[in-house]
Amino acid sequence: MTLIFAHRGSAGTHPENTMDAFLEAERVGADGIELDVQMTRDGEIVVIHDETVDRTTNGKGYIKDYHFKDLRKLHANYTFKKKLFNKQKVPTLSEVFDWMKGNSLVCNIELKNSIMDYEGMEEKVVRMINKYGYSDRIIISSFNHYSIVACSRLDSSIEIAPLYSTGLYMPWIYARSLGAAAIHPNQKVAPDEIISESIKNGIAVRPYTVNKAHQMKRLFSIGCSAIVTDFPEKAIRKKEELQ
Ligand code: G3P
Ligand code: CA
Repeated sequence: MTLIFAHRGSAGTHPENTMDAFLEAERVGADGIELDVQMTRDGEIVVIHDETVDRTTNGKGYIKDYHFKDLRKLHANYTFKKKLFNKQKVPTLSEVFDWMKGNSLVCNIELKNSIMDYEGMEEKVVRMINKYGYSDRIIISSFNHYSIVACSRLDSSIEIAPLYSTGLYMPWIYARSLGAAAIHPNQKVAPDEIISESIKNGIAVRPYTVNKAHQMKRLFSIGCSAIVTDFPEKAIRKKEELQ
């Protein structure tokens, strides 16, 4: 059965990476959420996609240069197209973890440390996962594969998964070499045979970002492990239609 992970919450319908978006994922019955983390100047792990606050908030500048208390003053859904939502703050990872106590959603944390070298990010994230006892509910992914291996070395019980966006030859072998139990490819570089062969070789496949009905149908039909979508409600409906 293909699981449905809500990308940046439910980013197609709600302001990405905000508590509103995560609540929506829970409301519609998604199996999990995907979120992105960056780190402030004073070491707080915050949930936001870009390295700067410019695109999504009313602020300007790099997150690495912000003190957490100043980042919290920003309007996290400032540029979201639908102005129906109340002002949201940039969430912290621990805030999301607190909310997860009331549900059983899986959380895919994407470490956004391919552009910025956030020193100590892996230790902080792994420590927090351990503190909450969430090692079986978390998947750590990143385009920075050194970083996910570092996480796995800190705690091998936490699942890691490499993200990639150009085709890999026999990715299940690469995944195994990292100690990963899954791969997270862009859906464009995840043809049926690569998905089937990976799953056959014990490696789960969770392509992103699967938003179109025909893409969902393809992945549900071949029994892909999970999809990561901006539209979890639509995906759940599509999946039910096919059952
Ligand atoms: O989970 C994969 C996906 O989130 C990676 O791309 O840019 O949306 O973070 P991006
Ligand atoms: Ca992401």
